[in-house]
Amino acid sequence: MKPIWIVDDDQSIRFVLEKALLRENLPTRSFTNPQDVMAALADTPDIEGPQILVSDIRMPGGSGLDLLEKVKKKLPGLPVIIMTAFSDLDSAVSAFQGGAFEYLPKPFDLPKAVELIRRAVEESQREEVAEERMTAAPEMLGQAPAMQDVFRAIGRLSQSQVTVLITGESGSGKSTLLRCINLLEKPNTGRIVLSGEELQLKADRQGELQAVNAAQLQRLRTRLAMVFQHFNLWAHMTVLQNIIEAPVHVLGVARDQAVDTARRYLERVGLRGVEDRYPAHLSGGQQQRVAIARALAVEPAVMLFDEPTSALDPELVGEVLRVMKLLAEEGRTMVVVTHEMAFAREVSSHLIFLHQGRIEEQGVPAEVLSRPKSERLAQFLSGNLK
Ligand SMILES: Nc1ncnc2c1ncn2[C@@H]1O[C@H](COP(=O)(O)OP(=O)(O)OP(=O)(O)O)[C@@H](O)[C@H]1O
Ligand SMILES: [Mg+2]
Repeated sequence: MKPIWIVDDDQSIRFVLEKALLRENLPTRSFTNPQDVMAALADTPDIEGPQILVSDIRMPGGSGLDLLEKVKKKLPGLPVIIMTAFSDLDSAVSAFQGGAFEYLPKPFDLPKAVELIRRAVEESQREEVAEERMTAAPEMLGQAPAMQDVFRAIGRLSQSQVTVLITGESGSGKSTLLRCINLLEKPNTGRIVLSGEELQLKADRQGELQAVNAAQLQRLRTRLAMVFQHFNLWAHMTVLQNIIEAPVHVLGVARDQAVDTARRYLERVGLRGVEDRYPAHLSGGQQQRVAIARALAVEPAVMLFDEPTSALDPELVGEVLRVMKLLAEEGRTMVVVTHEMAFAREVSSHLIFLHQGRIEEQGVPAEVLSRPKSERLAQFLSGNLK
């Protein structure tokens, strides 16, 4: 069997992973930085290349996301697992959008890490995976369909084209709920159904639900585009490159077509002539609109927003909310975590108020906002509406 390549500047991580994998008869080869990996790939014959690649995300010699991008170009079918700190889950989502197979939160639970790597190995030995991904692509490019039963906690929502707004105090579980939808965090209970297709889930020994079929999970994930508080654009890529990355490298769209689509969506979010700029040269509001265009470019079934305006200067909030309103009016299905209550009232069709990881109250926004039944929601609103 080909070795599992491990890339981490942290020697202790390399050491524990190597030992644990060796015990499972999984051979390894370790690297301390991305450059060495690229050099090794350049002069390694295919038969001795990696079975899978497990890479840290932040290393002095370069980022795991850049490495992911380069490796995907050279070895398109290779499963890549990105390791991130718990606090850096947003980067893990960027990794998915860049085509990563899975992510490993650090500090990690070793048996779980080994199980995940084992699963990636099994997957890499199944030839049909790549094919399945290819044939899935055209169907993915359809119109935004319905989100039905996202997660049991959300309860029953209307059938299609909804903007669900999730709000609640800090720590109430808004991000967690959002991340459960693409299984970035593993729920203990519930179902995830996207456009009528139910994600097959099975509880592991810890009682957390895991996807049964990695190809199905990856396919569903590419239909859920996420927009974050801190934009998470790739700093080393131009605006255009940021937007066409996933369509070209994950969905297999032809480059010319992806560029056309990117231009169309840039225009939709009110940006022109910024194609060749780098994110650092744009304002926060512009960067967030690029991030929205990037999410749109994969023609997602559902767009997930985690506090998309809370990192912006107040005068830039409006331009982003206006774009989101436009998308809602087009009938796109969106799940938005925000504290913008005026936006909730005007744009969303369903409002959920979370408290300590549970739904405290939910319903039609105008009703819930003007006549909250829960005392906690009333308190929250009086603090938020002023
Ligand atoms: N339903 C739940 N059951 C158990 N733990 C949960 C649940 N929801 C959230 N948590 C835990 O609560 C903590 C805070 O959750 P989370 O980060 O999702 O909150 P948040 O509402 O997004 O906060 P913020 O506004 O600060 O971003 C996390 O450690 C998370 O694991
Ligand atoms: Mg949050």
